Amino acid sequence: MNIIEIIEKKAKGKKLSRKEIEYFVFGYTKNEIPDYQMSSLLMAIKLKGMTKKETVDLTRAMLNSGDVNDLSNISRYTVDKHSTGGVGDKTTIVLAPLVASCGLTIAKMSGRGLGHTGGTIDKLESIPGFRTSLSFDEFSNQAKKIGVVVIGQTQELVPADKKMYALRDVTGTIDSMPLICSSIISKKLASGANIIELDVKYGDGAFMKSKKDAKELANLMKYVGQKLGRKINAVISDMNQPLGYNIGNALEVIECIETLKGHGPKDLTSLCLHICAEFLVMAKKFTNYDDAYDYASNNLYSLKALEKFKEFVTAQGGNANVVDNYKLFKQPKYSCDIKCDRNGTIKVVKALAIGHASMLLGGGRMNKDDIIDMSAGIVLHKKANDIVKENDIIATCYSDKIISKELQNLILKAFVIK
Ligand code: URA
Repeated sequence: MNIIEIIEKKAKGKKLSRKEIEYFVFGYTKNEIPDYQMSSLLMAIKLKGMTKKETVDLTRAMLNSGDVNDLSNISRYTVDKHSTGGVGDKTTIVLAPLVASCGLTIAKMSGRGLGHTGGTIDKLESIPGFRTSLSFDEFSNQAKKIGVVVIGQTQELVPADKKMYALRDVTGTIDSMPLICSSIISKKLASGANIIELDVKYGDGAFMKSKKDAKELANLMKYVGQKLGRKINAVISDMNQPLGYNIGNALEVIECIETLKGHGPKDLTSLCLHICAEFLVMAKKFTNYDDAYDYASNNLYSLKALEKFKEFVTAQGGNANVVDNYKLFKQPKYSCDIKCDRNGTIKVVKALAIGHASMLLGGGRMNKDDIIDMSAGIVLHKKANDIVKENDIIATCYSDKIISKELQNLILKAFVIK
């Protein structure tokens, strides 16, 4: 077997065997195949595609390129969810304690934010004292004890993806269904949970711009995950405008606490209840989705999930008093109201523009090593379908930096008003 034959075969649109796929994945991970040959192969895959079977083989090979977490000693069923990313996507922070309050175990590794999208780990770190870096023993002991633990990625899972993703990023080969699917699913499976829910977002602020593409990706990821032995389901959700009203790290945690108190925005609350109900059915706690949804809802509105959130925060060294006193979060030096410049109805609040503006306020990173201002961000006061009048306050923004007119304008322009 040699890499040139494999490249030529794929360039002619032929199917690759499991052995050929393993050959290039392992060879590239071990630096035996150079970047220029791998980028040629990735481009052939992007242009000619892969069958479902090839995608399963690719995902399996990537998964086996590094360590795979074993969570079987924590609980019979451990659940995990993956979001393809968005603006104001704070789902995990509500969902994790909710799921644990329903008797399931969630032992999750999450990421940091980059560009216009935020990351759960940064958001949790806005809670004073919260530790996102635990040893594997601390991680599994906490999961066993209270049913919920969320940390940043510790060891290197899926080294093949690390190299391949970096190469795809600079060779125009990100945009390929089998490559996206294998990248996401190999990492999710390596994290170790046996029940997985995918939240595949579509729209302006999402990776997939159209609902059709999001559905195609979701179906492929479900197929591959199931073939590789996991219970896996997917929800397709709208990311044309931010989820909820708050964007920015501490602001998003505050909105999560409000949601756990039963006062959350409708879109966030129903997404969390839906995913929780799907977990309960997959874990065989309920046979009927509606009963599972009612059970999850009852745990939320009876404040059981909020109690679990306090336990979770305390277990990871955070100050759970933030639940009753939002002043304990870092406070911004500056704030500024954005006023509407006309009468009308809001058609959409563009997620990408809001995410970008929040990053410029200091709430996100342009580069991997940038330091985040935990207090920075935007609170939307209006969203799609709301009627507005000139001079109404439609958003408030917060930052440690003086908020320029230009930046205020960027936020104003994100509101599409008819
Ligand atoms: N996110 C990933 O982890 N991988 C991709 O290929 C695309 C988005």
